[in-house]
Amino acid sequence: MEERRVAFITGGTTGIGRECSLTLAKEGFDIAINCMKEPEEYTELKSEVEANGVRCFFTKGDVSNFDDAERMVNEVIGYYGRIDVLLNNAGITRDTLLMRMKKEDFESVINVNLVGTFNMTKHVVPYMMKKRYGRIISMASVVGVGGNAGQANYAASKAGIIGFTKSLAKELGSRNILVNAIAPGYIKTAMTDVLPDKVKESIKEQIPLRELGEAKDVANLVKFLSSEDSSYITGQVIHVDGGMLM
Ligand SMILES: NC(=O)c1ccc[n+]([C@@H]2O[C@H](COP(=O)([O-])OP(=O)(O)OC[C@H]3O[C@@H](n4cnc5c(N)ncnc54)[C@H](O)[C@@H]3O)[C@@H](O)[C@H]2O)c1
Repeated sequence: MEERRVAFITGGTTGIGRECSLTLAKEGFDIAINCMKEPEEYTELKSEVEANGVRCFFTKGDVSNFDDAERMVNEVIGYYGRIDVLLNNAGITRDTLLMRMKKEDFESVINVNLVGTFNMTKHVVPYMMKKRYGRIISMASVVGVGGNAGQANYAASKAGIIGFTKSLAKELGSRNILVNAIAPGYIKTAMTDVLPDKVKESIKEQIPLRELGEAKDVANLVKFLSSEDSSYITGQVIHVDGGMLM
């Protein structure tokens, strides 16, 4: 019997990450999920994943911590023996204008979003190189391409992910490791639920498709980038934004 491929999803218990965990489980991947609480807290998600006839493993840790990242990768390798797809999805916002932005607001967002992406990728890539196979997909944002007032920290972290992605695509292409980024626009999750209705309405007016996106819209692209159908695509930043930024 052919071994199942393994997808490792950071921040995979909520929002876009949760949807990606379930979508890849449906595609037949064994799933490893990085979480921030004890794995026992996620029994419902575990059952939902396993209902697809695949396995589900949780590893708790902070992606912004280099040692945590190494331990989590080792745990997943110890459990499954392989990682075929790494989805760098964990991310935070600390929105405010530069005038009010504290050093900590800037540093924490860079540390989780950008340094976290480096930490996880750094520890997964050696295993992918050995196998001469891998897919690294990182969650950027349209804000990392177009900028956004009140999000200098977040936009810098996401623009950093884009530069990181393109550089790694060049470094790792010859090893058959594909590296791509996804730039979602506004997607309905806890991250955007906090926006006042008035703001949401004005955002919709800037979107040709006139709606916020669903987590599923992003998960469908993750599914494609994890599949053999995308085997000639690397170093790209693909927008899922209803046409908001062209
Ligand atoms: N929702 C949107 O409109 C939108 C738009 C563009 C990009 N994104 C990006 O998509 C990704 C997922 O966001 P979401 O909307 O699902 O929000 P979310 O808040 O539901 O998900 C973020 C996840 O990251 C985890 N996380 C936070 N800090 C972490 C840390 N230090 N270590 C490990 N995990 C950590 C959280 O526990 C959570 O599960 C993020 O990278 C976000 O920046 C979201």
